[in-house]
Amino acid sequence: MGTLQTYPGWLFVLSTTHSLVFLGFPSPGLVPGPSTQLSTRWIKLKATSTAHFFNFLLNSTDYRILLKDEDHDRMYVGSKDYILSLDLHDINREPLIIHWPASQQRIDECVLSGKNNNGECGNFIRLIQPWNRTHLYVCGTGAYNPICTFVNRGRKAQDYIFYLEPEKLESGKGKCSYDPKVDSVSALINEELYAGVYIDFMGTDAAIFRTMGKQTAMRTDQYNSRWLNDPAFVHTQLIPDSAERNDDKLYFFFREKSADAPQSPAVYSRIGRICLNDDGGHCCLVNKWSTFLKARLICSVPGPDGIETHFDELQDVFIQQTQDVKNPIIYAVFAASGSVFKGSAVCVYSMADIRMVFNGPFAHKEGPNYQWMPYAGKMPYPRPGTCPGGTFTPSMKSTKDYPDEVINFMRSHPLMYHAVYPVHRQPLVVRSNVHYKFTTVAVDQVDAADGRYEVLFLGTDRGTVQKVIVLPKDDLETEELMLEEVEVFKVTTPGPYTHCTQQLYVASATGVTHLALHRCDVYGEACADCCLARDPYCAWDGKACSRYSASSKRRSRRQDVRHGNPIRQCRGYNSNANKNTVEAVQYGVEGSTAFLECQPRSPQATIKWLLQKDNSDRRKEVGGHRARGCLEGKTLQPTACCLGQGARLA
Ligand SMILES: *[C@@H]1O[C@H](CO)[C@@H](O)[C@H](O)[C@H]1NC(C)=O
Ligand SMILES: *[C@@H]1O[C@H](CO)[C@@H](O)[C@H](O)[C@H]1NC(C)=O
Repeated sequence: MGTLQTYPGWLFVLSTTHSLVFLGFPSPGLVPGPSTQLSTRWIKLKATSTAHFFNFLLNSTDYRILLKDEDHDRMYVGSKDYILSLDLHDINREPLIIHWPASQQRIDECVLSGKNNNGECGNFIRLIQPWNRTHLYVCGTGAYNPICTFVNRGRKAQDYIFYLEPEKLESGKGKCSYDPKVDSVSALINEELYAGVYIDFMGTDAAIFRTMGKQTAMRTDQYNSRWLNDPAFVHTQLIPDSAERNDDKLYFFFREKSADAPQSPAVYSRIGRICLNDDGGHCCLVNKWSTFLKARLICSVPGPDGIETHFDELQDVFIQQTQDVKNPIIYAVFAASGSVFKGSAVCVYSMADIRMVFNGPFAHKEGPNYQWMPYAGKMPYPRPGTCPGGTFTPSMKSTKDYPDEVINFMRSHPLMYHAVYPVHRQPLVVRSNVHYKFTTVAVDQVDAADGRYEVLFLGTDRGTVQKVIVLPKDDLETEELMLEEVEVFKVTTPGPYTHCTQQLYVASATGVTHLALHRCDVYGEACADCCLARDPYCAWDGKACSRYSASSKRRSRRQDVRHGNPIRQCRGYNSNANKNTVEAVQYGVEGSTAFLECQPRSPQATIKWLLQKDNSDRRKEVGGHRARGCLEGKTLQPTACCLGQGARLA
């Protein structure tokens, strides 16, 4: 704790005291988040042994983790002109690499069309899906001419097989975007590829597409801004509705431009869905979805004036599976980047709430100058959006059997009237007035001594990952704790990342890395430090702060995630713990300047500076409890306080 400097004269005692960091609710609205209240320790990952950067030098950029294959213990990464197969346990152990550039002729054509401003005339791999036991299906932007093919990855990882099947090359139109700056999402289900994608060179025709497979090719209604209006696709996920497979629906998460008048926000976040067995209409909507519906996703906080402040720009979605495949928990990260308000938030949604909105009224408008109203007319049968052959429509085997009025209704009423609100009607995590935004989220469930915790890993656009837990406090209130913020990449944005067996994988423009979810040793050696860190992955084992495992003997492990109380936990282990403080002593000389430094081991610690004069037992606190050694005593110059991590005494 801090450096001990010996100067005669003044004696300073630094104490690290347990305190609550951030009371996020009930109105977290416009208070600054933890990272402005206390500056978090940034760990330079390269200096630790818990992070591993993929360090094969490829002339590539824009890495994306596209598929995790836990059966083969591999993950598949796409980047510009390369497909990588990496070992999940050690991403540098025998990586398998495919070089797949666009043809020189195609690159020349792309450059001639004026599209190479930032090197976009490459083959940016954007889709890797499992096809069968031996093959993957892969697509790239192909220098503004998307292409797809199969990759043979062998039957098992030990085969070390990884090669392209060039004779199977086919068009990637409707599967992968032309423009590498435009994200697409996809799911390969029953040998059919569903994709949310821009399907033209100019990037004006966005669609949810179905290709390959035996069923008819399908898409959303073209250039119908009621369906999709300049969307940015974020995620897609199959979520069954019941045990009846005919009810299976594919959900799409995206944001899009508001189709309404100028007074409404520019962007809305959406959840949309289609039935997998949709065959389109027979009168109209031929080869177009006849079950496509969408609803608004709300993530907002009440502002000081009572007006809701909305986070409208969906950034990423993480689906946490539960015992019940029909009811996963949906974590979504949003940003708000208006001129008045900037911030990020995490909201959590339940499938019960989502289904309630899709079972509720449809949004209806009499004409361009009317308000949106709940549709109150006669509802056609079967209810629009119902899957054929499902629980409610056993006799209609195809959407082609649906009456014309159902199909017509669908065409003009794709939007639900009610919006989906988050669980508890408030965000789980809020950051406002900070100079970064959340871009990605992954969630891990951790069993600690006092219960199960959900740990959020939030990637930011400044290249860091924040590790956050949210604890219940009272009935409705929660307390958010930022356990650490790790700088993963120097300047770049972590791309989609994912975790499996205690590892977090992060991809960015410049590379791929994996890091341990727990890095307990960084919290220090003292029991109190470990306890104050309140990291559910870590406990003090009598000698060190180490990985907690629920199965190990409990009595010998000291951990208190909920309260972080070292008095109770560390009795007998640490002479200072019974005062709930950890002390370090620094000395300064009156009238001279000394740099005093105290770096808290965990963001949960606050520093108190106590001033004790020579020949005196009395200690006087100087500076507020939030200050990092801010010296404001009468005999000290106030101008000389709070310099960076330390304090200066003049
Ligand atoms: C790397 O790729 C760029 C364009 O893709 C090319 O211009 C450059 O020559 C390549 N550098 C090396 C060292 O191969
Ligand atoms: C998997 O699919 C590929 C491409 O269609 C095919 O060549 C291969 O034989 C299939 N493998 C198996 C095991 O079915």
